[in-house]
Amino acid sequence: MNQPKELPAATHVAARLAEIEQFHVVTLVTRAFELEAQGRKIVNMVIGEPDFPTPQPIVDAGIEALRSRQIRYTPSLGSDELRAALRQWYRTRYGVDVPKSRIAVTSGSSAALLLTMGAMLSPGDEVLMADPSYPCNRHFVRAMEGRAVMIPVDADTGYQLTADLVDKHWTPRTVAVMVATPSNPTGTLIAPDELRRMHAVVQRKGGVLIVDEIYHGLTYGFDAHSVLEFADDVFVINSFSKYFCMTGWRLGWMVMPQAYKSHIEKLAQNLYISNSDVAQQAALAAFDARTLAILEDNRGKFREQRDYLLPALRALGFDIPVEPQGAFYIYANCSKFTRDSYRFCWDVLEKTGVAIAPGIDFGEHRAAEHVRFSYPKPVPVLEEGVRRLREYLHG
Ligand SMILES: Cc1ncc(COP(=O)(O)O)c(C=O)c1O
Repeated sequence: MNQPKELPAATHVAARLAEIEQFHVVTLVTRAFELEAQGRKIVNMVIGEPDFPTPQPIVDAGIEALRSRQIRYTPSLGSDELRAALRQWYRTRYGVDVPKSRIAVTSGSSAALLLTMGAMLSPGDEVLMADPSYPCNRHFVRAMEGRAVMIPVDADTGYQLTADLVDKHWTPRTVAVMVATPSNPTGTLIAPDELRRMHAVVQRKGGVLIVDEIYHGLTYGFDAHSVLEFADDVFVINSFSKYFCMTGWRLGWMVMPQAYKSHIEKLAQNLYISNSDVAQQAALAAFDARTLAILEDNRGKFREQRDYLLPALRALGFDIPVEPQGAFYIYANCSKFTRDSYRFCWDVLEKTGVAIAPGIDFGEHRAAEHVRFSYPKPVPVLEEGVRRLREYLHG
C-alpha cells in the first residue's frame, strides 16, 4: 500500500507560534464531526455556541440587505447606523451614555480582543488574566508580542480574579488586566463591588482594565451590570455571537476609552478594512422588540438546560462547587474519574460519542482535573448525553 508522503516542513514559521497552542475545543469538534460523518450520533457539549437559529428579524434584514445589492466596505469602526444602535442599546439596557466615537464594530469579539492587544502591547508587556479563562486570550496577547500572566483561581473566588489578586500580581511590566464576566469556562460572574475595587487598583497602577461582557444577556434570574456603569477608561468587549445567536455572522463590538480610538481605527483599517456589511445591516434588527422577545425566550430555555444538567452532573459524581449563574457552561471537577482530563475527553468522545472540553484549553491550573460542559442543547439531547456518561462511568 502507498504510504502518504510526508509534507516538507515549513521553512519560515514565526518563533511566536511555538507558544501558541491549538484550540483543543476546535480539534475535538472536528473529530466529533468526523465521527458524525461515519454515522455515529454525537452529543455535542463541546462547542460554545447557542443551538438556536439566528432570530428571524435579523435573517430578514440580512436578506433585505442582499437584495439591495449594496454590499460594500463600511467605515473601519463600523457603520454609523449600527454604532448608533449600539449607543442606544447601552442607554436602554444599562442607563449609560456611551458616545458613538467610543464604539467600534468588529469581526466578532475576537477581532476586538486582537485590536485591543495590538493597540496596547509592546514586546514583553504583561496582561493579567485568570487561570482558567477563555483559551484565545493568552494567544491574542502572545500574537501581539505581550506576555499573558495566568493567575490561578479556584472556587473560593468563584474562579474569578479579585482586586487583591490583581494587586498582588502586578509588576512594573503589567499594563492590563483582562476579565470576563460571566466567564468562559466557569459561567461565574464578578460581583459589581469587586469589579469596582479591581478597577480602582488598575487605575492606581496606571494600567487598563479589559472586561469581556460577551455573555451579558445570558444570566439567569438577574441582569448583569456593565463596568461602563461606573467607568469610562476601560475596554469593554462584546459580540453578537452568543446572546444574539449570530456566531457565524462574525460580528462583535467594543467600547474603548476615547484616547485609544485613533489607534484602534488605524489598526482596523490596515488589518481588515471593514467588517462584513451584510452582517452589520442584519444586526440592525438585533435590537427590535420582536428579536428581543425571541432572545428572552431563548434565555429561559438556556436556564432550563442548566437547571437540568447541573444536578444531573453532580449526581454522576462531578464536583461543581460554584453554581454557574451565566453563560452556558459548567466547569466540573472530574478527578473522581481521572487524573488526566485531556485523555478522559478523548476517551469519552470515542467510546460514547459525547463531546466535552478538557481543562487544558483554559489554562494550566488544575487543568487535568477539570472538564467543561457546554449546555445550549435541547434537554432531551442533554439527557441522552447524561445517560451515555452514566453508562461509561458507572457501567
Ligand atoms: C469569553 C469569550 N470571549 C470572546 C469569544 C469570541 O467570540 P466571537 O469572536 O464569536 O465574538 C468567546 C467565544 O467563545 C468567548 O467565550
